[in-house]
Amino acid sequence: MSSADFEAIRQLAYKSTGIVLPARKKHMVYSRLSRRLRQLGETSFADYVQRLQRDETELPVFINALTTNLTYFFREGHHFEYLKDKITQQWLSRPNKRLRVWSAACSTGEEPYSIAMTLAHPFATNEWDLKILATDLDTNVLNTAKRGIYSDEKLSSIPSEYANKYAKRQGEHDFTLSPLIRQLVHFKQLNLLDAWPMKGPFDVIFCRNVFIYFDHETKKRIIARFRQLLADDGYLIVGHSETLMQLSDEFVFEGQTIYRPKL
Ligand SMILES: C[S@@+](CC[C@H](N)C(=O)[O-])C[C@H]1O[C@@H](n2cnc3c(N)ncnc32)[C@H](O)[C@@H]1O
Repeated sequence: MSSADFEAIRQLAYKSTGIVLPARKKHMVYSRLSRRLRQLGETSFADYVQRLQRDETELPVFINALTTNLTYFFREGHHFEYLKDKITQQWLSRPNKRLRVWSAACSTGEEPYSIAMTLAHPFATNEWDLKILATDLDTNVLNTAKRGIYSDEKLSSIPSEYANKYAKRQGEHDFTLSPLIRQLVHFKQLNLLDAWPMKGPFDVIFCRNVFIYFDHETKKRIIARFRQLLADDGYLIVGHSETLMQLSDEFVFEGQTIYRPKL
């Protein structure tokens, strides 16, 4: 992969996803795209870059190859404890029974299903109208998320109170989640850089471990748009190494990378 090839790939990734690929990631890009080149029978990155310019169906495949999708159930467990202990208590006393949660970079689904397991009791009832929107740019991970079947190794990160209630055996080495949990989550493909069709307001937005791939301007724009879709008494939750500091003065910090709109 020549410097010119890497530069072309880097620019296309940035323009279409906001993901910044610094020079130190060249090796990672090389190995992720080499697989794709082999599938296509392409022998050079220069040819692949040309294909990307003339064949628009290749762009989603290129994007899927470049995204980093690491996730697991109840990742950064303190956010789910906060949701259960603090946010849930606040909701219980409200007259309005409509609850909307958005997992804005949901990868293979572990994050929105963890939210669903946390909120199912007491909100998955006829009295409450709870919906969890789960979006991601990558169509491959969304297919896995919608399928909702996970290997048994993933079971250990689900607290046993939820695993016992909601995890159901699927074949010999896999499990799935009960219909009660799955029906709360609605998966859609969405690029955070594009227009968002949702009107909101959302009560909680989870956008964790995706800002780390974006530059300052992209983060700033997305955070301002989150504020527009977030209820005044809502919460924005980002990943443990992410911050809104110097990106927005519209939020106050609650601790543990949890933010609330400044009123
Ligand atoms: C590391 S995963 C984080 C998953 C989950 N939120 C968590 O914290 O475990 C990052 C996800 O962000 C998605 N992503 C990257 N750029 C995006 C964009 N422009 N729009 C929407 N999703 C994006 C990737 O496809 C990937 O699934």
